[in-house]
Amino acid sequence: MNRIGIVLVLLVLLTGIAFAIASSKTSASAELQIPKADAAAIESNGHGIGLVTAFENLYNEFMQKSLPGALDKYYSGSIPETISGQWVRDMFAMAGAFDGIVVNLQEGDMANASANYNEFAVLYNNISDRVPEWKGYFNTTAVDMLGKDLAANNTPASFQDIGAIGATCSKCHGDNQPQVWAKYYWRNFQTVNVSTTHGNMTWGDSMDALAGTYAGVGVNAAKGNQSAANDSFNQFRDLYTDVKVACSNCHDTPRFYYVSDDVFATIDQMGQNITDGNMNNAIALQQSLGVQCYRCHVLHMPAQDMKNKMEK
Ligand code: HEC
Ligand code: HEC
Ligand code: HEC
Repeated sequence: MNRIGIVLVLLVLLTGIAFAIASSKTSASAELQIPKADAAAIESNGHGIGLVTAFENLYNEFMQKSLPGALDKYYSGSIPETISGQWVRDMFAMAGAFDGIVVNLQEGDMANASANYNEFAVLYNNISDRVPEWKGYFNTTAVDMLGKDLAANNTPASFQDIGAIGATCSKCHGDNQPQVWAKYYWRNFQTVNVSTTHGNMTWGDSMDALAGTYAGVGVNAAKGNQSAANDSFNQFRDLYTDVKVACSNCHDTPRFYYVSDDVFATIDQMGQNITDGNMNNAIALQQSLGVQCYRCHVLHMPAQDMKNKMEK
């Protein structure tokens, strides 16, 4: 049921593109440039859209201001697929010491609890000074208190302090972690180059071209136009191969989804069905391939959307 829903949504989207191509009087197989939807037309079309725009502007502004610039310094040289950047490395060190205090206390090992405390307190106080806008998240008073309660062997009070400190960790994580990941962990797709036989393309242009050829296969197959369907197929297969190569802009391990050998086997089966004149089979395979586009979008677009808003 869900699968059918997904395919339908994709079809509606892509058929729109296909009609745009048809109405511009060029065959889908020859033309790779797809006209974009006219945002101004959409804007003037609906009621209450002004409110939507106002809310969007507010959200964009929030996203742009949501992370202090002072954090950049602690992420210089950070790369996707790697836990890099001084900020996150220090977080792991601080968490190690913090967990150490808890475990030692549970075991009644006060000597090691104090040793871990000393390490933790230095890190916590040091980190609290790094980003002025984030100073308010830290509770250094509770950390001082924990030192005193540990020295006094007061275990119940120590656990209470630990709870108060732990709340400061959770609060900041809840507010900021997703934005930090989007900003520093994900590379911007707009900086990715896709090398094609039509020259170098931006990611967005390669996607538009891919969508045009994808729709071309379905539309031409439905019309029973075998040679046009075959042209669209060849362009689609070439572009999808180029997009697959472009995954390596961010990933240095083989990709098991969306562009893997089984997906290309389906693509080739679709081509064979066009060659054999089995258009209904070709159309069914074309629709099943749309699910791969959809799933890759569901995975990668949320972070990219956040980046688009944060980086204007
Ligand atoms: C990496 C996985 C991935 C795969 C596979 C993929 N896309 Fe995309 N696509 C993206 C991302 C990410 C964006 C958003 C780029 C941005 O906002 O800068 C996008 C954007 C688009 C867009 C909007 C382009 C624009 O004008 O900004 C279209 C249309 C599109 N994809 C179609 C497709 C179709 C059709 C397929 C399959 C045949 C496909 N995509 C496969 C990741 C993927
Ligand atoms: C602009 C950078 C970028 C591009 C280009 C990109 N990805 Fe990703 N992708 C990421 C990031 C960041 C993650 C988060 C998880 C990680 O680091 O592996 C991710 C995660 C994934 C994952 C889930 C984690 C895993 O490794 O299994 C898959 C699958 C994936 N990408 C497939 C693809 C495919 C297929 C393409 C090309 C069609 C692609 N990606 C292109 C940035 C990118
Ligand atoms: C002022 C904000 C802030 C405070 C306070 C804070 N953290 Fe973090 N922490 C972050 C951010 C932002 C990240 C995400 C960093 C990344 O993934 O690059 C993070 C990541 C982490 C991670 C890495 C794991 C993950 O899921 O990303 C650990 C572990 C961690 N913090 C532990 C702690 C502990 C323990 C405390 C409290 C004693 C604490 N943090 C307090 C901001 C904070």
